[in-house]
Amino acid sequence: MEFPFRVAVPVPLFLAPMAGVSEAPFRLLCRRFGADVVVSEFLSSEGLRRGSERTLRMAAFDAEERPIGIQIFGSEPAAMAEAAALVTDVFAPDYVDINFGCPVKKVVKRNGGSGCLKDLDLVQGIIRAVAAATRLPVTVKIRSGWDESHRDPVGIALRCQEAGARALTLHARTRTEMFSGAARWEEIASVVEALEIPVIGNGDVTTAADVVRMRRETGCAGVMIARGSFGNPWIFRDARALLDGRPVPLAPTAEERFRTALEHARLTLAVEGDTPKTAMEFRKHLGWYARGLPGAAALRERLHRVATLAEVEQIFSHYLTSGEVLAPA
Ligand SMILES: Cc1cc2nc3c(=O)[nH]c(=O)nc-3n(C[C@H](O)[C@H](O)[C@H](O)COP(=O)(O)O)c2cc1C
Repeated sequence: MEFPFRVAVPVPLFLAPMAGVSEAPFRLLCRRFGADVVVSEFLSSEGLRRGSERTLRMAAFDAEERPIGIQIFGSEPAAMAEAAALVTDVFAPDYVDINFGCPVKKVVKRNGGSGCLKDLDLVQGIIRAVAAATRLPVTVKIRSGWDESHRDPVGIALRCQEAGARALTLHARTRTEMFSGAARWEEIASVVEALEIPVIGNGDVTTAADVVRMRRETGCAGVMIARGSFGNPWIFRDARALLDGRPVPLAPTAEERFRTALEHARLTLAVEGDTPKTAMEFRKHLGWYARGLPGAAALRERLHRVATLAEVEQIFSHYLTSGEVLAPA
């Protein structure tokens, strides 16, 4: 039941792989706020083997982020093996994670991500090829199946374990469900029961209390958080406190939220380059950090139009001193 990479606590908290969100700056921030393990965005095996500059840039990480998994996807065992070997040689993360869960059309159409869940021989072929190509532990992230008629989380998970996966994350929904309905945590419990390798539970953990409840209800070895971390790296700190039997710290003040948002923004500009594109892509994070504050709707609307960091600083300081949203110049 041991994790195949070093973790400092008995029940590690994972920041989920999230395209466009779990980039190096956010991963670093979440590590500092108490995430025990982080995972890269999913990287295309084809992009990696072609040496795509963009894909290689997405694979880079800071030593402070460790332990980190790099996640790859694809439907060709040989390409996946090549990608895993390259990731191992060039970046040497703590483990390689295979994405069998992505529901996005563009990926599934090429039989990548959850597309593989329709063909478990292919799933096993990919895991075996990847495991043979790297000295690093190989883990997998799956959904409960392709659709209701293929729904078989235990069967899929057992095949993954048999093929050599050293840990498994289950997002307990099918591909057809996308993000609708509720994740079926009882399926996580069944997979925990059936497998010998560590199982990481994932799906609908939005508060620190949910982390404790998922752990209690499923017996999972670790908990992975995706959407619940949006604008809220504090969820890791709070969950750790609850798991340790300590009271949850006070919620962050507006000032703390803004300070963290600015730190996140500065890190992002440093890593991605100080360009209008970076600023535009960062707007979603600003909106998430403002969630729940008085007048959040107007504040978020304003933040969704910013073009520079200086403008964000002005909006934040005006809000803190007056409680009002700065009008556009
Ligand atoms: C914006 C976004 C991007 C995602 N990208 C990935 C990805 O690259 N790889 C992956 O395995 N899952 C990806 N996921 C799925 C999440 O890792 C996670 O399995 C799912 O969101 C359920 O967890 P949650 O209920 O905590 O959000 C993504 C989810 C979101 C919301």
